[in-house]
Amino acid sequence: MELLRSRRDLARLPARGAGQPALVLVPTMGALHAGHLSLVEQARAWGTVVVSIFVNPLQFGPGEDYSHYPRDLDRDLALLQPLDVAAVFAPDAADMFPQQDAVTVSPGPAAKFLCGASRPGHFQGVLTVVAKLLHLVQPQVAVFGRKDAQQCLVIAEMVRDLDFPVRLVDLPTVREPDGLAMSSRNAYLSIEERRRAGCLSEALQQARQALARGERRPDRLREILRSRLAAADQVEYAEVCRVPDLQVPHEATGHLLLAAAVRIGRTRLIDNLVVRVSATGIRDVPLLAAGDSES
Ligand code: PAJ
Repeated sequence: MELLRSRRDLARLPARGAGQPALVLVPTMGALHAGHLSLVEQARAWGTVVVSIFVNPLQFGPGEDYSHYPRDLDRDLALLQPLDVAAVFAPDAADMFPQQDAVTVSPGPAAKFLCGASRPGHFQGVLTVVAKLLHLVQPQVAVFGRKDAQQCLVIAEMVRDLDFPVRLVDLPTVREPDGLAMSSRNAYLSIEERRRAGCLSEALQQARQALARGERRPDRLREILRSRLAAADQVEYAEVCRVPDLQVPHEATGHLLLAAAVRIGRTRLIDNLVVRVSATGIRDVPLLAAGDSES
């Protein structure tokens, strides 16, 4: 496993091109957990895997957790070592963003809602670093977690509208036994907060069950989500949205995202379910249809 600590080191990336396996990028901010590792393991199916580890300052707002976001490169490398990863790209912030007031990428319409509304500038920061990582590594495939569903959709809009020659893949959320989606931020929770955090995935499951019973009114589904989130200290949003444009539908059918963001103590947690609701029932589906984002 090659460790590449700067943009200059990228000259040591595995060869790509005719006759070579595809290069597959798994972007992360480190503090790796089983969710990240499952992306890495599954990425292997598409080709040679490169993992990036970079805590991106551009996607954190003022007062957010950039300075105390967990960073432990040695631990992350030890976790990746057994996983058949060809290279880890772990630059520092001065190497990635040497210019002040540099050019950024302005997100498209999917960034207006949900986390985009409550974290101004967040998706601009995400797109700027993802655009840069895609240019630097030039993977044929990039793999993202469905856990950050809106992030996947916002990146897919960039790839489509700016013609990035990359295929995007979204993979399922890995959860703790009680349903809590794995997240690097779960480490911030006290024991009492950790217990309450279970309400987030439970609320989403309750809304999913209501859909399965035939409930199609977005208002009613939103009420179910909100009532089950009573154990949270604050509900930032709890929505039923259409995929991929994230508009609230008149009727909850078709490709849907059930999404919520809450605060438990000082920790902000998000989770979602992606489903397709049709006359024959409800099933869990990917966000990005195969081929949607292919060049
Ligand atoms: P980070 O939060 O480290 O997540 C890296 C990738 O892991 C993302 O695609 C995310 O959706 C996925 N992931 C996180 N938790 C997961 C879980 N429980 N199950 C499955 N996948 C999970 O997302 C980012 O970093 C950054 O915004 C990034 C895209 C790297 C840009 O800086």
